[in-house]
Amino acid sequence: MGKQQHIVVLSGAGVSAESGIQTFRDGDGLWENHNVHDVATPEAWQRDPELVLRFYNERRQQIRKAAPNAAHKAIAHLEDGFKVTVITQNIDDLHERGGSSEVLHLHGEIGKARSTLDDRLVINLGQSDIYPGDLCDKGSQLRPHIVWFGEDVPMYPIAHEITQTADLVIVVGTSLQVQPASFLASAAPYHVARIVVDPKASADTPAFYLRDAAGVAMPVLVDYLLENGIEDLSGIPGLQHN
Ligand code: APR
Repeated sequence: MGKQQHIVVLSGAGVSAESGIQTFRDGDGLWENHNVHDVATPEAWQRDPELVLRFYNERRQQIRKAAPNAAHKAIAHLEDGFKVTVITQNIDDLHERGGSSEVLHLHGEIGKARSTLDDRLVINLGQSDIYPGDLCDKGSQLRPHIVWFGEDVPMYPIAHEITQTADLVIVVGTSLQVQPASFLASAAPYHVARIVVDPKASADTPAFYLRDAAGVAMPVLVDYLLENGIEDLSGIPGLQHN
């Protein structure tokens, strides 16, 4: 047998939508009733850390109650036939709980906190939340381990390198409006096929499209790939090409 083929799955908020977690750009421009600039920027943290902590504590509690859906499980199931790396913009842990073993979080993880003094000091929160006065080992306030708007994306170079080794790229549930995550969609070599799973996908780049909810389309797609491999995608039910 030759080298195992590598599928890179680029996921966004849409993959968790059917688990009851709100996406960012489908609604009224607000994120859980907040303007993102009031809760997800370094300026917001400077201005009102209590609000920011409370906001992320609520999101964390909501995520703990959520369960992985059919899309997360199907993506994990892909590992039965392929090497799979999930590169997600999501801060939830539903890919991990759905069974995926290689998950890279571009925008951080809500289940972790980090020092405001030393980026390398990251701790698992377990069942805890973060409150004003919760300090790191060096005595500074803990903050959510999240990449806010305007901050660097330290995992990006690694994600880019991984994506360049893909034999197939699946983009699922992301509007690709946020950089640099959006660049990953075209980081694989030119000959590598890309399948976009999103009910509202626009067709502005050459790709295959499955315009359906992730929880519906992903199980069908994964079954097809496990059975037929990645060489001939033309038989995937519902597939459109532009
Ligand atoms: N299945 C598949 N896709 C879906 C579903 C679903 N059930 N429901 C919605 N979608 C699609 C939408 O059509 C949209 O294209 O998911 C996409 C979600 O896009 P965004 O809300 O922009 O989320 P995302 O791309 O993950 O946002 C990126 O923006 O605010 C930041 O840091 C935050 O990681 C986030 C980043």
